Amino acid sequence: MKIAIYPGSFDPFTLGHMDILQRTSRLFDRVYAAILINGAKTPCFSLEERKEMMNICLEQAGICNVFVESSSGLLVDYVKQKKACAVVRGLRDGADMAYEARLDSANRHLYAGFETVCLFSRPELNYISASMVREIGAYGGDISGLVPDAIKNIIAERLKHR
Ligand code: COA
Repeated sequence: MKIAIYPGSFDPFTLGHMDILQRTSRLFDRVYAAILINGAKTPCFSLEERKEMMNICLEQAGICNVFVESSSGLLVDYVKQKKACAVVRGLRDGADMAYEARLDSANRHLYAGFETVCLFSRPELNYISASMVREIGAYGGDISGLVPDAIKNIIAERLKHR
């Protein structure tokens, strides 16, 4: 069984993340969408909120081989624990490429068996970022087309009352 990890902060989960996760679910038998801690970021949404929103999107899309989990440890330890053969990351542009290359090298330094599989974002989604959603939402702007419809209202309400 081919197992992959799709890690990220998902703060919040965007349409760009959903596209990568959906495509990953078709490439691997089982996928763990792992909400991990990026030490450089202070999250806006709680772990539980992020997990619940991702599960809503997966259920609505009828995706059955993706499991949402969270972990406060190192990505390499999570990969070993799940016996995953790859970590999937989305690439939107050259800046992402440089960032992912550094992340891959650091993870490979920690675990020689570490492999990253990068999927290119669909062009119509490659400008989306979680921080853009947070900023637009905080001003009460329209976040349609940036996040999955199923969780749009939850995110908008939450950001308005931040
Ligand atoms: N579409 C839309 N947006 C995308 C995207 C896509 N396909 N791919 C990435 N993004 C955006 C995210 O929304 C996020 O935007 P933001 O910076 O505005 O918030 C940004 O790109 C990257 O975020 P994300 O993909 O969630 O990952 P991250 O870089 O925050 O997470 C971890 C990195 C969590 C995987 C990393 O910190 C980690 O592995 N942590 C665990 C601890 C560890 O092992 N640390 C050592 C690592 S060497």
